[in-house]
Amino acid sequence: MSAPMLQLQNVVVDFDGFKAINDLSLTIESGSMTVVIGPNGAGKSTMCDAIIGRVRATSGKVLFHGREIQAEAEHAIVGLGICRKFQTPGVLVALSVIDNLVIAATRDRRWWTKFGRKGEAEARARAEEILETVGLAPRRDALAGNLSHGEKQWLEIGMVVATDAELLLLDEPTAGMGAAESTQTAEIVKALVGKHAVLVIDHDIDFVAQLGGHVVVLHQGQLLREGTLADIRADEEVAAIYLGRAK
Ligand SMILES: Nc1ncnc2c1ncn2[C@@H]1O[C@H](COP(=O)(O)OP(=O)(O)O)[C@@H](O)[C@H]1O
Ligand SMILES: [Mg+2]
Repeated sequence: MSAPMLQLQNVVVDFDGFKAINDLSLTIESGSMTVVIGPNGAGKSTMCDAIIGRVRATSGKVLFHGREIQAEAEHAIVGLGICRKFQTPGVLVALSVIDNLVIAATRDRRWWTKFGRKGEAEARARAEEILETVGLAPRRDALAGNLSHGEKQWLEIGMVVATDAELLLLDEPTAGMGAAESTQTAEIVKALVGKHAVLVIDHDIDFVAQLGGHVVVLHQGQLLREGTLADIRADEEVAAIYLGRAK
């Protein structure tokens, strides 16, 4: 039997005596969608940081295909196939949408390792494909700096997809978006599942409902519940600490 793609086992992240993550265990399978919700300060971003190697767990294990990755540098973890989109956009504003994607596709995650860069033609073809995936074909030649906030977020998602990572971590991809943009973001994210496993963090319950993935509720650094959104919504403890307050 092969190991699950990603496993957190009893992970603790202690910041000077404050446990931002407290004995968290979680399994993510290849090609799946996991949606992590929880109030501000629950530890969602710290969990991503621990997976990507930006913070080190004080104790516990982070296993990728059964292999402990915590001793690896952040760029080496990207090289293994885990890529994160940050809350703040990082597109190259002076370049067009398609050129941003070409650069991201050229900097295939193998670029970090020994295989060298992707060929120009291959990167261009991949960039055109991703342009469609993230719904930016009509904005292909626009300068990234002239995109709306939502379009920039989609471009960022595209740049993460371009790394061909097996696991994509999207931390609040709908931050600052209106309802129509959030709906389109849900469609984009759903289209990634299967080829990639996607871990999405969000606290907008309407967006979580549109995604329809496996939902994990974090509270004070611990896994409070996991299940379908219907299971989570029916849970009184979750409602008391989170859903009742959230929206
Ligand atoms: N580098 C750090 N040093 C100290 N405390 C931190 C650090 N990063 C996050 N925290 C604290 O850990 C808790 C969890 O933060 P975070 O993971 O950002 O929560 P979320 O993303 O769920 O809103 C918060 O109380 C936050 O203040
Ligand atoms: Mg956060």
